[in-house]
Amino acid sequence: MADLRNNFVGIKSPNPFWLASAPPTDKAYNVERAFKAGWGGVVWKTLGSEGPPVVNVNGPRYGAIWGADRRLLGLNNIELITDRPLQVNLQEMKQVKMNWPDRALIASIMVPCVEEEWKAILPLVEETGADGIELNFGCPHGMSERGMGAAVGQVPEYIEMVVRWCKQYTRMPVITKLTPNITDIRKPARAAKAGGTDAVSLINTINSIVSVDLDSFAPSPTVDGKGTHGGYCGPAVKPIALNMVAEIARDPETYGLPISGIGGVTTWRDAAEFLALGAGNVQVCTAAMTYGFKIVQEMISGLSDWMDEKGHRTLDDITGRAVPNVTDWQYLNLNYVAKAHIDQDACIKCGRCHIACEDTSHQAITHLVNGVRHFEVKEEECVGCNLCVNVCPVENCITMVPLAAGALDQRTGRTVDPTYANWTTHPNNPVAQRQAAE
Ligand SMILES: Cc1cc2nc3c(=O)[nH]c(=O)nc-3n(C[C@H](O)[C@H](O)[C@H](O)COP(=O)(O)O)c2cc1C
Repeated sequence: MADLRNNFVGIKSPNPFWLASAPPTDKAYNVERAFKAGWGGVVWKTLGSEGPPVVNVNGPRYGAIWGADRRLLGLNNIELITDRPLQVNLQEMKQVKMNWPDRALIASIMVPCVEEEWKAILPLVEETGADGIELNFGCPHGMSERGMGAAVGQVPEYIEMVVRWCKQYTRMPVITKLTPNITDIRKPARAAKAGGTDAVSLINTINSIVSVDLDSFAPSPTVDGKGTHGGYCGPAVKPIALNMVAEIARDPETYGLPISGIGGVTTWRDAAEFLALGAGNVQVCTAAMTYGFKIVQEMISGLSDWMDEKGHRTLDDITGRAVPNVTDWQYLNLNYVAKAHIDQDACIKCGRCHIACEDTSHQAITHLVNGVRHFEVKEEECVGCNLCVNVCPVENCITMVPLAAGALDQRTGRTVDPTYANWTTHPNNPVAQRQAAE
């Protein structure tokens, strides 16, 4: 049986599925129910200082994007950090940690960028018995206008400074949560490392306006006729999060820095992909808000079954396994050739592949053969782009078939040359040449 136990920067949990800091972790009632359902850990909804109270909007907080089947693809929110008193949260955290000693309980914190503020709150959090802290440098709205959240996460020097204070004033492990609202995610990750962080977690939500009401001409969610940008999350953001996790995992300057992967995790497969790209565990918010806490059971059994099937015994067997296969474009093997192939038994003759290829791409798919509706790939025109696979409504009807070494590419008239097979080290690769010369 696969062993799903997780040890993330010394914080132990029975499985790698943590709830991210958000409404599901806002209070003891929720967290108790989450732990009963099987979640391995939680990052408590972000705590603020005892300063001016946090006041949320009293109208809609969410906007959304749905698929054609009304499945929630992306969620947009304008919620702030917790609006409950600090002392209430701290007391509840302490009680929950006592009730559930085997689960991870992390305190997310966001206070002004002032040393005394951090110095003051850290011992209070430590006293709850929390296993670690997560620094919320990601909140993209409301708090950032007050110089917190993303306003810190977008300035590497501030990140380094605050992480350094936290390492100085607490013995708890420090996880630095990064904002994706930045051009190069490696910069804040490097800064967090320079400050001494134990780990990074990412992503927080992405700046977004999900829709505009065309009667009132206001963005949604609309609060008394006005809207503002919110933070985007859910399945739609997973590709952005995966790339950012991979960028940090393969950056020589942050290589080996533990990563907690967040963003659109909905199934065990999503989790396994984050792990493969270098995450030590994952955090989940939107999936729990959409389907309830019990969704973790499917994540646990799915991951466990897959690991058993593949012979992976522990999470360490998976973490980072895909990182060596993420490369820069220039290292891709340009002598690899694949052609689309249409399974005629599966084809429903809708013609979408033909239209996409004919109108916008390479005119490589027939629609009439001898006057009969028939869709077939013209190998001599196919560049292997894969668009037809993506627009086909029937899964696995169109597949990409690689040409074997030595085969003739009818489009270019060239033979697939096996000596080019490993482009990364090929002497004609300019980067390989440069490295050889050094
Ligand atoms: C309503 C809502 C409130 C959130 N509040 C916080 C917060 O207080 N602190 C924080 O670090 N992240 C907060 N987040 C961001 C989530 O922790 C998480 O980073 C993000 O939603 C991406 O994960 P997901 O795609 O699984 O939802 C919030 C997200 C939502 C939807």
